[in-house]
Amino acid sequence: MASLQEQIQQYELEIKAINIANAAELEDFRIRFLGAKGIVKQIFGEMKNVPADQRKEAGQMLNSFKILAEEKFESFKSLQVDTKAKCPAVDNTLPGTPLPIGTRHPLRVVENKIVSIFERIGFSVATGPEIEDDWHNFTSLNMPEHHPARDMQDTFYVSTDPDWVLRTHTSSTQARILETEQLPIRVICPGRVYRNETISARAHCFFHQCEGLYVDKNVSFADLKQTLYYFVTEMFGENTKVRFRPSYFPFTEPSAEMDISCTVCGGSGCNLCKHTGWVEILGCGMVHPNMLRNFGIDPEVYTGFAFGMGVERITQVKYQVNDLRMYSQNDVRFLRQFQAIT
Ligand code: PHE
Repeated sequence: MASLQEQIQQYELEIKAINIANAAELEDFRIRFLGAKGIVKQIFGEMKNVPADQRKEAGQMLNSFKILAEEKFESFKSLQVDTKAKCPAVDNTLPGTPLPIGTRHPLRVVENKIVSIFERIGFSVATGPEIEDDWHNFTSLNMPEHHPARDMQDTFYVSTDPDWVLRTHTSSTQARILETEQLPIRVICPGRVYRNETISARAHCFFHQCEGLYVDKNVSFADLKQTLYYFVTEMFGENTKVRFRPSYFPFTEPSAEMDISCTVCGGSGCNLCKHTGWVEILGCGMVHPNMLRNFGIDPEVYTGFAFGMGVERITQVKYQVNDLRMYSQNDVRFLRQFQAIT
């Protein structure tokens, strides 16, 4: 059996060779060599068995072994995780600091509502570019060059090229759909549009539209009326009345504007309806045969209806917002009022 001195030498070699990489290994080292039942303590206990003439030498060896172990431990002490360190008491059951979250913009809320009402009856959503060419914004929609109807919408041109405009309506998306999709077509096109208007409470240089298009065999004006009536009852409630007035749009024939009974006074007369009892909410009509022909569709076989509404207008009527500028001022006191509406 190896003498105690030899054992100590063995352990010294071991300590010198040990590599300590982390807190767990440091703790293992401490327990093995310096712990209450560790090797240093154990060898101290064995000193009594060393023959008296060797005890002095063995004692010195043991001391330097102990110092070696302690120094090794100290040199890696930075790895140690101080579990007793004072840290502030944390109560994990306390609610956290609330993160300020934004709210949906009222226009988006209303747009989503419009879209989902039409989705329920089989319309799908289509979007298109805001920078549009003349063909999709005007010409294909039965508004050739110099057509007086072009003046109905004050257009922003992109640079000096008259072929590129900021779209004045989302009918341009309908044109793109007629160009690329197979019949029958039933789409709703939400999006931002631009018109060169002076900004005031009642007009803005950009606003939002949702336009619908349905082209198939045997689509009639009765289908248009029923579809829009369904929309109105879903959006404004069952008791809302509708009326259609003849109107003019180059891409529809016949054309109409639709009014609903005033959502504020119910018809008795107020500021919103300018004491008429009715508020206009959209334009509509049967797709003009010229427009169908522009996309290679035979108007003798297919018919269709189209309608277009301003999202700001619907929001104004539904929530009595009386200044268009509020939609783009981003005043949170205004925006937060729509928090509960989804
Ligand atoms: N595009 C028209 C506008 O912006 C609205 C409309 C769409 C009217 C479809 C009739 C049919 O004013």
